[in-house]
Amino acid sequence: MSDLNTAQAEAKAESRVFYPPAAFVANAAIPSMDAYNALCKEAEQDYEGFWARLARENLHWHKDFSTTLDESTAPMYKWFEDGLLNVSYNCLDVNLQNGNADKVAVIFEADSGEVSKVTYKDLHAKVCQFANGLKSLGISKGDRVVIYMPMSVEGIVAMQACARIGATHSVVFGGFSAKSLQERIVDVGAVAVITADEQVRGGKHLPLKSIVDEALNLGDCEKVKSVVIYKRTGGNINLADGRDVWMHDLVATQSAVCEPEWVSAEHPLFILYTSGSTGKPKGVQHSSGGYLLWAILTMKWTFDIKPSDVFWCTADIGWVTGHTYITYGPLAAGATEIVFEGVPTFPNAGRFWSMIEKHKATIFYTAPTAIRSLIKAADGDASIHPDKFDLSSLRLLGSVGEPINPEAWMWYYNNIGRGNCPVVDTFWQTETGGHMMTPLPGATPMVPGSCTLPLPGIMSAIVDETGYDLPNGQGGILVVKRPWPSMIRTIWGDPDRFKKSYFPEEFGGNVYLAGDGAIRNKDTGYFTITGRIDDVLNVSGHRMGTMEIESALVANPLVAEAAVVGKPDDTTGEAICAFVVLKRTRPTGDEAKQIATELRNWVAKEIGPIAKPKEIRFGDNLPKTRSGKIMRRLLRVLAKGEEITQDISTLENPAILEQLKQAQ
Ligand code: PRX
Repeated sequence: MSDLNTAQAEAKAESRVFYPPAAFVANAAIPSMDAYNALCKEAEQDYEGFWARLARENLHWHKDFSTTLDESTAPMYKWFEDGLLNVSYNCLDVNLQNGNADKVAVIFEADSGEVSKVTYKDLHAKVCQFANGLKSLGISKGDRVVIYMPMSVEGIVAMQACARIGATHSVVFGGFSAKSLQERIVDVGAVAVITADEQVRGGKHLPLKSIVDEALNLGDCEKVKSVVIYKRTGGNINLADGRDVWMHDLVATQSAVCEPEWVSAEHPLFILYTSGSTGKPKGVQHSSGGYLLWAILTMKWTFDIKPSDVFWCTADIGWVTGHTYITYGPLAAGATEIVFEGVPTFPNAGRFWSMIEKHKATIFYTAPTAIRSLIKAADGDASIHPDKFDLSSLRLLGSVGEPINPEAWMWYYNNIGRGNCPVVDTFWQTETGGHMMTPLPGATPMVPGSCTLPLPGIMSAIVDETGYDLPNGQGGILVVKRPWPSMIRTIWGDPDRFKKSYFPEEFGGNVYLAGDGAIRNKDTGYFTITGRIDDVLNVSGHRMGTMEIESALVANPLVAEAAVVGKPDDTTGEAICAFVVLKRTRPTGDEAKQIATELRNWVAKEIGPIAKPKEIRFGDNLPKTRSGKIMRRLLRVLAKGEEITQDISTLENPAILEQLKQAQ
């Protein structure tokens, strides 16, 4: 619990409080703590009634539901199950009916800076045509479709089109390798893959279609009957006869009318793979009704979305943030949103600020890693400092994906928000579908580094290892005590793993275990997340399992054994540090450097560049107990470059510590 104690000390030390600006409060959806407390009270007094009211007020139901929450097969909870709806209908058709047909839905800015705009009417037509195209390929309700696409309007169209016909999509981030892609295609049982010829990032063309080809050639992908390709660059690709089809050819003859497939609220909208504590990524399955309800509600509550807003979430559609706060939430809320193809540092590190200025963005939502790297860049180059840009359109800032350190929070608040914009530090996970804990921008006094309080209806708590509630001021394990509509439904194909991972018997089997540690402030009750309590790392806001990286390393013919731990990093939050034992003698000097580079590239090929270890240290062995268990806590200390002060009496080979101390 030493990390928790450090966090406890830090949480205590942070005494700065920032109040929502009066101008913001005046028009806010939830304009006071009284309003927030009233919603919390409503949820406590009549939990199901609360959610049923919100579901009826915020979604279009083709057929109303009669049961709100079904707990009979807990923890496989079901929400609004006999209600029928369509997610794409709620995001598009509803807007056409509400007078938003000619409103810009998406402002797309390409890597090159070229801008194109798509109205709700255009987007509706594109989605319907593509949905009809998918149907013409024989894809129908319940089929799984893998999407491996760049940030693009077409990526959103692909996801929405799947939703329209009731196909379940599984988006794979464009930075994952052929092997990772193949594993996901096989696990999900995809019948089709939607991709692009290439993607463009930072001025470079990077392949996508050829990686799909490579993935499909790795085997076990016989179920894939079609590959649809969006032509992004016109780069050279191979087209397999009878399997591959261009997106523009597929839609050319399709009608722009497509009757939505009305599905049960429990119908799986998507499956998104994320890392857990074993080597195999988990296919997190989300619902249609409950998920969409929370996507739209959090747009209203956390982002206080208004018809005049220009909303910009900088995430990629390959991650859950891109699903909820690019593809679904903003559209369901009828917003105008910016979709950006490129990277924050191209053509220079002022790109985000110049785009905010150009498009007059009002709400900006990004990750602490991006903020930290842009702080560094601005310090080094005054010409791209945010004070050189007109950021006066902004009214709200958000942070997501990892803890934001108070210094980065203050910089964001002062330099980007100019002290006028609330900062919503949103804590949530792939599994939660949407925000869980966050300040409400018109109500909650903000404390840098704290995600403050749960949203109304979210029953967060902190417990000890046996599931007992802990008092404020004592660090422990974060749980959620009641099911909520947008929660994970199961791990695709592995309900036992779902139960064991999230509803373990040690905690009574009926509380959701988030996998994070947390602490509540003694006086305010505010939550601060203290980091993962399992073998999951968070590098630049990307979630990765240490076991996944270890499995990739040991798959290399040179490697006998590997152990991966995280170490704190000023920019990326955490960095990957691998301790490796080779089958041959331990390399040193230049040879060690060369093998380390080889292994890094190997991991990039096995998983993707995001999983490359920042540091690789070679040893004759790893620190182990007499029963052969690797003592990772010691490796974590070594990775940090600290002295080992813990008890090492159970360690079989203490001499190894000296050797592993030295970075290569
Ligand atoms: O450790 C928490 C951290 O990111 C994890 C979830 O990662 P993922 O499923 O990839 O989803 C990221 C986008 C929602 C959490 O278990 N995390 C996320 N947001 C925060 C955070 N840690 C601290 N503060 C946050 N605001």
